[in-house]
Amino acid sequence: MKKLLTIIGARPQIIKAAALNRAIRFKFPSQLTEVLVHTGQHYDHGMSDVFFEEMDIPKPNYQLSIGSETHGKQTGRMLEEIERVINLEKPDALVVYGDTNSTLAGALAASKLHVPVIHIEAGLRSFNKSMPEEINRISADHASTLLFSPTRSGLKNLQKEGFLTVDEARKNGKADIGNPYIFHCGDLMYDNTLFYGQMAESKSDIFVAHGIDKNNYLLSTIHRPQNTDDIKTLSTILWALNQISIENQVQIVLPLHPRTAHIIDQADDAQINSLTDNPLFKIIEPVGFLEMILLENHAKLVMTDSGGVQKEAFFMKKPCIILRQETEWIEIIESGCAVLAGSNPEKIKSGYQHFIRNQNLDYPSMFGDGNAAEFICSSIIEHLN
Ligand code: UD1
Ligand code: UDP
Repeated sequence: MKKLLTIIGARPQIIKAAALNRAIRFKFPSQLTEVLVHTGQHYDHGMSDVFFEEMDIPKPNYQLSIGSETHGKQTGRMLEEIERVINLEKPDALVVYGDTNSTLAGALAASKLHVPVIHIEAGLRSFNKSMPEEINRISADHASTLLFSPTRSGLKNLQKEGFLTVDEARKNGKADIGNPYIFHCGDLMYDNTLFYGQMAESKSDIFVAHGIDKNNYLLSTIHRPQNTDDIKTLSTILWALNQISIENQVQIVLPLHPRTAHIIDQADDAQINSLTDNPLFKIIEPVGFLEMILLENHAKLVMTDSGGVQKEAFFMKKPCIILRQETEWIEIIESGCAVLAGSNPEKIKSGYQHFIRNQNLDYPSMFGDGNAAEFICSSIIEHLN
């Protein structure tokens, strides 16, 4: 039996952990066991507990309750606490997801204690080092022993940074931090979308509760520092969405991330306040995962700066306007199913027109077969020493 210590903290990590935890408990119960550590990076009910409740994730074994802080203070406090838990639990490996401060703290703490790190969502690159996530994911990759990339381009990025293919690495011996093994595994979020897709239809009350016209809305999320930290940038994006709504008489549904909500509250920006004059513009609280995939599934189009949401739009065969200058998920752009618009209102509006005119898009299968979690578990069992 191998004991995994899994670090979660931010919303998308809790969601990804649901898929792996499900596989561990129901497919590999005699070979793997998991201890869940929640750093507390996200803590509002709608950013954390809701996912444990509706996705049947066991209560974390450790709740570190670190909360919101500056990067250094937050990561530093996590590092100290995760080190304490590793020393208590003595796991065979530590699992981290994605690219948040919780990911970085977990990878650093474990690698310094010679506990192998398993990085899920390895190899993704925006090639923009001003993003905190880019620093976190590069650091986590280079501290890891088993790296699982959801995409082929992620695997190539790792090879460009000097990682060997598994076949090459095997010739050098067993996997360890000096001889890491890299795998292409498919996407845990795709596993989740397939698993919860049907169940999500039971959440259709959300349409009534918020007066959403199931057949005529666009879904948006915004939380990246590049789009929120400068109120003028945020205001410009929201203005563009509002223009699209008014000119095309289409609803905008925006489940608002707390980062963005706090910034809007503090700024008291006249242009943002005027959105309330448009009854078609619906700003709502963050929703649960089932409600979110339901909203994605019925939307005409998605406009987001979220990594997870741009991918889920693709899974749901919805065109996406990515509110960023670049993306780690380049396959979606290459397929023609998404465009990059940054915060440029003209590009956002022309992206909308483009997809309204071109409705017959092809969404090739490139995120696995819905069994990424099983592949990851089998690979851990086979290659973790
Ligand atoms: C973090 C990740 C980002 C990921 C996102 C997912 C880092 C550096 N960033 O960004 O990669 O895409 O999570 O959502 O790790 N807040 C609340 N309640 C909460 C959580 C946050 O009010 O439950 C507010 C606080 O004001 C906090 C702000 O949101 O300061 C930002 O939270 P933080 O976790 O630092 O960054 P995110 O923008 O959420
Ligand atoms: N999500 C959710 N409710 C919301 C907004 C997003 O459940 O109100 C889910 C979404 O379906 C996806 C994940 O959160 O699975 C994406 O997380 P987020 O956008 O916070 O972070 P990112 O993926 O950009 O790191």
